[in-house]
Amino acid sequence: MSIWGTTKEGVAVPIYTLKSAQIEVRVMAYGAKLVSIRTPDRSGKVADVVLGYDTLEGYLNDNSTYFGGIVGRYGNRIALGKFSIDGATYHIPINNGANTLHGGPIGFDRYVWDAKEIPNGVEFTHVSPDGDMGYPGALTAKVKYTLAGNTLRLDYSASTDKATVVNLTNHAYFNLRGDDQGTILDEVLELNADRYTPVDGGLIPTGVLAPVAGTPFDFRKPEVVGARIESDSEQMKLGGGYDHNFVLNGNAGTLRLAAVMTSPESGRRLTVETTEPGIQFYSGNFLDGTFTGRHGVKYEMRTGFCLETQHFPDSPNQPNFPSTVLRPGVTRHSTTTFAFSTVKAE
Ligand code: GLA
Repeated sequence: MSIWGTTKEGVAVPIYTLKSAQIEVRVMAYGAKLVSIRTPDRSGKVADVVLGYDTLEGYLNDNSTYFGGIVGRYGNRIALGKFSIDGATYHIPINNGANTLHGGPIGFDRYVWDAKEIPNGVEFTHVSPDGDMGYPGALTAKVKYTLAGNTLRLDYSASTDKATVVNLTNHAYFNLRGDDQGTILDEVLELNADRYTPVDGGLIPTGVLAPVAGTPFDFRKPEVVGARIESDSEQMKLGGGYDHNFVLNGNAGTLRLAAVMTSPESGRRLTVETTEPGIQFYSGNFLDGTFTGRHGVKYEMRTGFCLETQHFPDSPNQPNFPSTVLRPGVTRHSTTTFAFSTVKAE
């Protein structure tokens, strides 16, 4: 552990390095963010495969990408910043058009979490008070990052003292060629999803679980990310590319395959498994060169992709979606793993 810097309020921010034989990961207490993952390509050349900054200031000054952060209390969107539990209606400030995104204007990614070293990793804890951003109930959120071999594991847990909604995820942007290597359009994606949740113009799900078959959202067999991203599918236009939740096959609650992304050029492969019911595949459409990251590189459109394991967006207003309501006396657990390997050239 070392202190990476201090926030504008003067709070010290510890940063931790986790190491295995092949991989080096850095995580910090500000936003419980994943700062760096250094992995070898097929020839052994090491690069960072997540977008990020050289300094804490980079993260403090970035209020829109959520690079590597834990988003909460409710990751992704809540329509009109409004939902009801047991007949009581709650209002969350809007920060994305007419809707709430990633918890609201001051989400969990903006706090310095408590940090504790554990075997092979770090456990971060954040307590969000009753009424924080309008959500009911004091919520205790924990995220454990552990590294074993080639696998980085994230174990989330949450508990509350009043019924509330919760949806925690990590918002890392990956580029398997390296964080300064341009777009991710040549990477090849496979998703374990027969269905996805189409959206409206505000990226709020319509409530339909639509088959991916016959659409540019069909990644049941590996497909190049960029191959269909400019297609004139209405959904692709609404997302400005891929920015959609996929309904993962298999049983939620069981750790199972979610996604495999492969970079044919570098040979790096990322395999994602999760217990969550869904995954947001976001192709970095809103990156626009505003932020300059490590190596002085401007992060332009689609220079990173996110695979955010999650409950579906706007679940609090969607009776057909798996519930995100958490009640007192119950601890919600979820696990996501990111495993790194390499594949030979074809
Ligand atoms: C999520 C959303 C995107 C975008 C990013 C952050 O992935 O679905 O629409 O808001 O976060 O820029």
